Amino acid sequence: MGVALVTGSSTGIGKATAIRLAREPGTELVLVARREGMLRELAESLPCRATYLAADLTAPDAPGRIRQHLEAEHGGELHLLVNNAGAAWRASFDEGGYANVHRHMELNFDAVVRLTEELLPLLRRSAPSAIVNVASTAGRVARARTGAYSASKFALIGWSDSLYAEEKPQGVHVGLVLPGFVRTEGFPAAELREKALTRWMVSKPERVAEAIYAAGPGGKAERYVPRPYGLAAVLRILAPSLVRRVLSGGAATSLTTSTGAEGDDPAAS
Ligand SMILES: NC(=O)c1ccc[n+]([C@@H]2O[C@H](COP(=O)([O-])OP(=O)(O)OC[C@H]3O[C@@H](n4cnc5c(N)ncnc54)[C@H](OP(=O)(O)O)[C@@H]3O)[C@@H](O)[C@H]2O)c1
Repeated sequence: MGVALVTGSSTGIGKATAIRLAREPGTELVLVARREGMLRELAESLPCRATYLAADLTAPDAPGRIRQHLEAEHGGELHLLVNNAGAAWRASFDEGGYANVHRHMELNFDAVVRLTEELLPLLRRSAPSAIVNVASTAGRVARARTGAYSASKFALIGWSDSLYAEEKPQGVHVGLVLPGFVRTEGFPAAELREKALTRWMVSKPERVAEAIYAAGPGGKAERYVPRPYGLAAVLRILAPSLVRRVLSGGAATSLTTSTGAEGDDPAAS
């Protein structure tokens, strides 16, 4: 495995991914998120060497600090970069406006691009290596009140597809993971879990971690979690008017979920 860096590894999908990767022989982990105490606790519990760095990925100096950490602690090697950190702040465009779009792009897209730019020389030097970008099924199909989140994930998917083609000759594989509803701190999916009719739609972080492994060291280009969510993306292309009708009608309200970031005011950033 070698050196693997997971962003957003203090909780949720990133934490499950760190635990999954730690099982592979020869893994050295680098954990990145803002909450240092949670990173330290996780690093100490893992069965492999793990270092951590507390960083806000939207800060201008974050990519440089992470590179310095890799050079000082891991000999400048990097075999797997998992761009997982992300968030959603639900709001209609009318309520959230450009401020909410900007906030999503800053974390879910710009921060990923900036970190990848900084670490690409290390990944190339360590090739064969891989990048896994954690997008979302919302990056294929947009629902009401998630426009800003969807825009950031649509952007991430388009950019990842291009990077896949560009980096293949350099030995840097680029994989994409598109989760559906997964119960985590930031995405509690409480409304879906409450109803027997929709409970089945909510998956677990461990399943996404397995898909991240498949899309990274496993060499797969793309993974939906759970897999049937891929059908939504197919229908969006083959039957767009049907998808629009469903998602703007009454049935769409049963797919509306709040997020862990709901308490924040999007206009405040
Ligand atoms: N769960 C779902 O239903 C679902 C569905 C589709 C896609 N996804 C995607 O999966 C990824 C992981 O989400 P999750 O469900 O595991 O959410 P989560 O439990 O809220 O975890 C998000 C992680 O990102 C970190 N993070 C947030 N803002 C950050 C910042 N500014 N700088 C550094 N780290 C930051 C958080 O750590 P700190 O707070 O400690 O910084 C946390 O470790 C996201 O990209 C999300 O869009 C999730």
